Amino acid sequence: MKKDTFTFTNNKTNESYEFDILEGTRGPSVVDISTFYKKTGMFTYDVGYTSTASCRSDITFIDGEKGELLYRGVAIEELAENHTYLETCYLLLNGNLPTSEELLDFDLELRHRSFIDENLKHLINSFPDRAHPMSILASGVSALSSFYYEHLEDTNEDMRQEMARRIIAKIPTIAAFSYRKSLGIPEIYPDIDRSFTENFLYMMRAYPGGKMKRTKDGSNEIKEIEVKALDAIFTLHADHEQNASTTTVRTVGSTGAHPYVAISAGISALWGRAHGGANESVIAQLEMIGDVKNVDKFIERAKDPNDNFRLMGFGHRVYKNFDPRARALKKLQDQLKDELNLDSKLMEIASKIEEIALKDEYFIKRKLYPNIDFYSGVILTALKIDRPMFTPIFVIGRTVGWVTQLMELQQSSEFKITRPRQLYIGK
Ligand code: CMC
Repeated sequence: MKKDTFTFTNNKTNESYEFDILEGTRGPSVVDISTFYKKTGMFTYDVGYTSTASCRSDITFIDGEKGELLYRGVAIEELAENHTYLETCYLLLNGNLPTSEELLDFDLELRHRSFIDENLKHLINSFPDRAHPMSILASGVSALSSFYYEHLEDTNEDMRQEMARRIIAKIPTIAAFSYRKSLGIPEIYPDIDRSFTENFLYMMRAYPGGKMKRTKDGSNEIKEIEVKALDAIFTLHADHEQNASTTTVRTVGSTGAHPYVAISAGISALWGRAHGGANESVIAQLEMIGDVKNVDKFIERAKDPNDNFRLMGFGHRVYKNFDPRARALKKLQDQLKDELNLDSKLMEIASKIEEIALKDEYFIKRKLYPNIDFYSGVILTALKIDRPMFTPIFVIGRTVGWVTQLMELQQSSEFKITRPRQLYIGK
């Protein structure tokens, strides 16, 4: 059968070059330009990789025009509403949802692996008080490579899966320890009688010694609805194909570096305001706006080409429609409104921004819709989570995505060091 091809013509020399067109199972066709330099002596130029597919992947699919996101072919809405984060982790790692017995084994193993070496705890404690938890978290995960150096030599699928389960289990503990260090209070060890998500809330909230805050009515300090909401947030963050942090993980992984060092690099990439750091910035911005009456003024600033002010939580490189994760969170926010006593002032400002922006010509023309970070900050605030922990929570959810993408790279027959070229404009 004849392959579809794409022909480039150099209008200077009138030479034409043919390249294969590759078809995935879904999404746009891809022109295979891997021999472009060899054939033409030229490079392609694509700042920010807006038109470049960097790998083949069967993990996550996004249709940015439709606003659709699938993990291993399963819609994100289905996972957030009807499955737990641990089931989602299992799905990403194994390609299928677990049976109840597989889930039980997976859950128990993660509980037992949630502890960290005491020396790693000492390292965390050596950071200055008030250090940002993201900085401690990135360093802690990088340091984990010294405690599990053997993963550098992982040669088969079973060993890699163990490496993956280990990091997924330990990330919430390192994040919670980082948080408590940033507050200058003693850490709380994991409680293996609690589920993955409940345990994380417990490690953040409990008093030294592990007792929970006493309430007048004797109710449990960690409400079921809070666990459900945070669990859905983890699920919605679990993977997002070749975004900046995942591309960073794959780039570092492509050099043959230790997997946990690659994950640590992903954590650093995620921290920026244009990426995972946006959830912290959204709340800071809502607080700065301060009142619904100021919203118009800030919308005008966001539209002004001479002002570098941007509406945080709006816009996305891939979504040119409502971010499906944002849609799921908006639904969750509405469900939680009464039960969690959401901060009404922030929500009022957020709703006003959304209402104006969705009708405004500037945002419509550029297809700027609210993204996941626009809603997650308000929900996390309602869960009484301090703002510096918003991006670490994104990290906890995304770790499974990073590690799954890394394993896919390691198993790929196309494994190659990432090494782009440049258009030199110097002396
Ligand atoms: N507010 C105002 N204008 C915006 C915004 C915004 N939030 N985002 C994009 N624009 C404008 C931008 O000024 C440009 O206008 P013009 O064509 O007139 O120059 C146009 O829209 C295209 O913007 P871009 O920067 O070329 O788009 P990009 O694909 O490179 O950037 C983005 C995507 C997410 C970095 C950007 O939309 C942004 O900075 N948003 C705010 C930060 C944010 O919410 N980030 C979280 C992303 S979702 C979480 C994740 O998956 O990481």
